[in-house]
Amino acid sequence: MFKSIFANNPPLCYNYAVQQFLSSLGRVCAIIGAQWGDEGKGKATDILAGHFDVIARACGGANAGHTIVVKGRKHVFHLLPSGCLHEGKPVILGAGMVIHLPTLLEEIATLREAGIDILPRLHISHEAHIIFNYYKAMDAALEERRSRAKGQGIGTTKRGIGPAYTEKAARSGIRMERLEDDLSQELQQRAKDAQTLYGVTVESAEELAALKEAAALLADRVSDTVDLIHRYRSEGKTILVEGAQGVLLDIDHGSYPFVTSSSTSSAGALQALGLPPNALTSCIGIAKAYCTRVGSGTFLTEAPEEDAQRLRDRGGEYGATTGRPRRCGWLHLPDLCRGALTNGFTHWNITKLDVLDEEKEIPIGTGVDAQGKPVFDYLPGWQASTIGITSFEGLPENARQYIRYIGEQTGVPVALIGTGPEREHMIVKN
Ligand code: IMP
Repeated sequence: MFKSIFANNPPLCYNYAVQQFLSSLGRVCAIIGAQWGDEGKGKATDILAGHFDVIARACGGANAGHTIVVKGRKHVFHLLPSGCLHEGKPVILGAGMVIHLPTLLEEIATLREAGIDILPRLHISHEAHIIFNYYKAMDAALEERRSRAKGQGIGTTKRGIGPAYTEKAARSGIRMERLEDDLSQELQQRAKDAQTLYGVTVESAEELAALKEAAALLADRVSDTVDLIHRYRSEGKTILVEGAQGVLLDIDHGSYPFVTSSSTSSAGALQALGLPPNALTSCIGIAKAYCTRVGSGTFLTEAPEEDAQRLRDRGGEYGATTGRPRRCGWLHLPDLCRGALTNGFTHWNITKLDVLDEEKEIPIGTGVDAQGKPVFDYLPGWQASTIGITSFEGLPENARQYIRYIGEQTGVPVALIGTGPEREHMIVKN
């Protein structure tokens, strides 16, 4: 009975906790990473997608990475949302996205090889921006420049995200609505600028060929997705908004300048999809039971290397997009509380609880002292396996205490708890 939440086309849920949880989500639910991305949003999204009519990704580009298992084979997807495998459900790529077309074509082809034709149900905003190959080279050149000037870069994914949003803000970006235009002259001018300003060579013929190939396949998939999403709403359809990255990488409210170039919040996602703020009926904040970060920048609760390596090994903490080892540490309550406030979290999904199974004691950052050093609370570990446990009552007492502590300290109830890598390894708590 409990497993019905995990089914693609779920029958009625008889389990009370599951029913209560699903009905508490309402018509428009956003899933937002509460840390530095990589919180494991994909699992909750994939599970919940089965219960929503429309799946929408709002912002970011191929800097995101989530592993999707298609017919038993693992694939890392960067642009298509995690919920895209649910047959028959419309998938929207919103106006806040920056799209590298060859990557999108590759993901579509991967699905097609697995017998899934996503094209007829894929809707790409005409307002989304195109990422050209040379943006990636610009991204790398800018990183190098920063490293030379400041001794440290941002640690970007080098997917061209910064340059794409720079062009967008400068009002010189090229949007999806121009996919079928002849851009050869424009690219020639851009090639000169890229060479002079960044020492980057633009392979115009290659760029144009990529555009042509994408246009042949995608031109009729590009549309006014704002109009579309409001039509869906007026038909009473429910919408799952899939956030990308995490709130600490937000361009406004994140750990600037060590952030991505887009808005990663629930408000940013709504803006990018053309949904009004009051459309949102629930917002699930996703946080690991500990904390990780890739790239540079402050990480107040970063663990000493010995502890970090233990978490990295147990949690498989290597970037899905870049393969970089993630920096590992502990939860930081002030960040979780702030994320809850700025995004309006109505529920938590705490992921990867099982990674802490062997810890004797678990530090949780509660703030900083007068010297700016982190202050910790220490909760007792449970030193027992939680892998695959599917009921809150089935968890060891100290694990329950840990979860309760997070809920009490942040004022946001914990509704979902990940207890292992499989889809079924999830607790729905009421
Ligand atoms: P960019 O988004 O590639 O410009 O990278 C800026 C910062 O955000 C770097 O520290 C990246 O590692 C980080 N970042 C961007 N996207 C993700 C993500 O999806 N997960 C985790 N970190 C990310």
